[in-house]
Amino acid sequence: MTPLAAPFGQALPRVDGPDKVTGRALYGADHQPAGAAHAWLVSSPIARGRIRAIDSAAIAARPGVLLVLTHENASGLVHEAKSVAGRGHLTFSRPPLASDEIFFAGQIVAVVVAESAEIARDAAGSLRVEYAPQAATAGMDDPGASVVPAQALGETHLSRGDAEAAWKAAAVQLHLRYDTPAQHHNPLELFQATCEWQGDRLVVWESSQNTRAYQHGLATQLGIAPERISVHCPFVGGAFGSRGPLAHYTALIALAARQLQRPVKLVVTRQQGFTVRTFRAETRHDVRIAASRDGTLQALAHESWELTSRVDHFALAGSDSTARLYACRNIRTQVHNVLADRQMPGFMRAPPELPYLFALESAMDELAQALALDPIELRRRNDTQVDAVEGKPYTSRSLMPCFDLAAQAFGWSRRPAQPGQWREGDWRIGFGCASALYPAKMGPAECRVTLLAADRARVEIGSNDIGNGSYTILAQTAAAVLDLPVDHVEVVLGSSELPAAPLTAGSNSATTTCNAVAHACQEMKRRLQATAAASYPLTVDIAHRAEGVGGEDGGFALLRKGVPVIGGGVMEKHLAYAFGAQFAEVRVHAVTGEIRVPRLVGAFACGRIANPLTARSQLMAGQIWGMASALLEASEVDHRDAHYVNADLAEYLVATCGDVAEVTTLLVPEEDPHINPLGMKGAGEIGATGVNAAIANAVFNATGVRVRRLPIRLDDLLHDQGLNRP
Ligand code: MOS
Repeated sequence: MTPLAAPFGQALPRVDGPDKVTGRALYGADHQPAGAAHAWLVSSPIARGRIRAIDSAAIAARPGVLLVLTHENASGLVHEAKSVAGRGHLTFSRPPLASDEIFFAGQIVAVVVAESAEIARDAAGSLRVEYAPQAATAGMDDPGASVVPAQALGETHLSRGDAEAAWKAAAVQLHLRYDTPAQHHNPLELFQATCEWQGDRLVVWESSQNTRAYQHGLATQLGIAPERISVHCPFVGGAFGSRGPLAHYTALIALAARQLQRPVKLVVTRQQGFTVRTFRAETRHDVRIAASRDGTLQALAHESWELTSRVDHFALAGSDSTARLYACRNIRTQVHNVLADRQMPGFMRAPPELPYLFALESAMDELAQALALDPIELRRRNDTQVDAVEGKPYTSRSLMPCFDLAAQAFGWSRRPAQPGQWREGDWRIGFGCASALYPAKMGPAECRVTLLAADRARVEIGSNDIGNGSYTILAQTAAAVLDLPVDHVEVVLGSSELPAAPLTAGSNSATTTCNAVAHACQEMKRRLQATAAASYPLTVDIAHRAEGVGGEDGGFALLRKGVPVIGGGVMEKHLAYAFGAQFAEVRVHAVTGEIRVPRLVGAFACGRIANPLTARSQLMAGQIWGMASALLEASEVDHRDAHYVNADLAEYLVATCGDVAEVTTLLVPEEDPHINPLGMKGAGEIGATGVNAAIANAVFNATGVRVRRLPIRLDDLLHDQGLNRP
């Protein structure tokens, strides 16, 4: 296809911006059905054991309390449904309130419904629950942790050549271990659900990345036909992977609404938000990397461990991507799961790549140091246009152009080759860099375009705008093909009633939906050209297939059920990835160990860009999050009882304006004629990848201290005082 004309590709501000800043945009909990009752969750303080007794009668009798759901009266009412690890819809496969058994701290043990949220909260706080706790395993190194083969979405074992022998025989070899912590998505909008039965139909207002998954998951859980359920969320206040699968509370709110014959609304607290959904699990990496003296990689063996729930096994297996990044003839990967008494982990922005690139890109920096080679030069000498494991070509790969552009903008040439050389007053200064990558994904999608009049169009597609700019870029796409002004295109998103589109995740949405909408609009043009006198409204429905996805039927049957059918990354004949280069300057205080990041520079090649303004916002926010991931974010688990000790925004540190100084985000133009008709790759997650390693590498360059465990903390850097982290 020839490139789309303007306004596609223009840096237009968000079409939904005015609605968002004036409060007209309604988020999940803004929906207030008349006569709604209010729910509050009670969650378990213990991580493993049983409920011995629960005294719901005492609070059920209080004025204003309408219903108390516990396993004693709700067991069996919610059917089992598969979790995302089993290609299902749920966060966790065990049904809620099914029995007295506790699998993780924060598990829902009761739902209290009352006339007001205040009454419900007060009653929930007074509910007496007696537990019979058992010793719980908190993390990888705690008693009771067991290692099992990983159950992962990607390949858990890759093998090419003989990594062991090549590693031993190489001129320079390193054996390194890296650790990344548990982290939690904290979207600004709290998790919530409002359910109302309209006759025998269930209507749900809940912010979601996949309304059809919620619809079909609820249908299974409640044992009713999916056609009787609709899920709506026109605006979503952040998601980052947390709102992909259906959580347990929604079915309970639907049950309560049915029993009470009135709408019920739940808003989960920030603290409960840490356990009612998934999280980014701890990972550990054993990396053996070796090169010849000239820097040619000879071996890469990457063994990894990912924490998961004892009940549901789930791993990301990021080495399926990262082990293919550089040319290397001897590769071996192996992924394990470590079982603990924790909630089910899941997807959090750039789920596999963020922790796995920390390991690989730190190791590459350590190798460059051992070889006395510039880190960019090491990557250049091992750059490749084919997959290192299977020899498949990349559809396009602009890794080194990204390094060249970012290095120039950053002023990399000023970096001292030896660490600990550059000091200004009390501040030690260092530069670091790392590669960024993320699979370029796309799924099939259905889409409806209606010409309301000769110069007005409506686009309907069951995707979501989770802050990524979907409303804007889809209006641009339709406007470009139909030759209309952008403000003459209405875009309708965020409902399970709309034509089916994949979940808004995996950085697939812009690519998938722009291609589908462009296709529908082109079909509309063809019809108009074939019609002597068009009468309006004129509607076109299309089903747009994605190359190599979904087999014979194109994946549409699964798509309509909300099951993710997106392809990309490692494909049958080629590899589809976006690449980038991350640079960081750090300043480490010589006395206190305080770490500041005055500058981040990133350059990214993501195919054709629908809107450079919204794309740069995605990438820049990713860079900032990557910085927070390296220096601030960690969910601390109490090793005695496996609960999170910092489950709020006071103690779980996210980046604030004071942490962000200068962030430069550069787009490297990239033409990819193979990847999809519009030549697009996603930009939603790649910005967050590699930043952690770039910062750790910069910290090493500043101080000579190599930190292999995130987040990097002051006490890792107090070596000047002879103080070390315990
Ligand atoms: Mo994202 S973690 O693919 O929602």
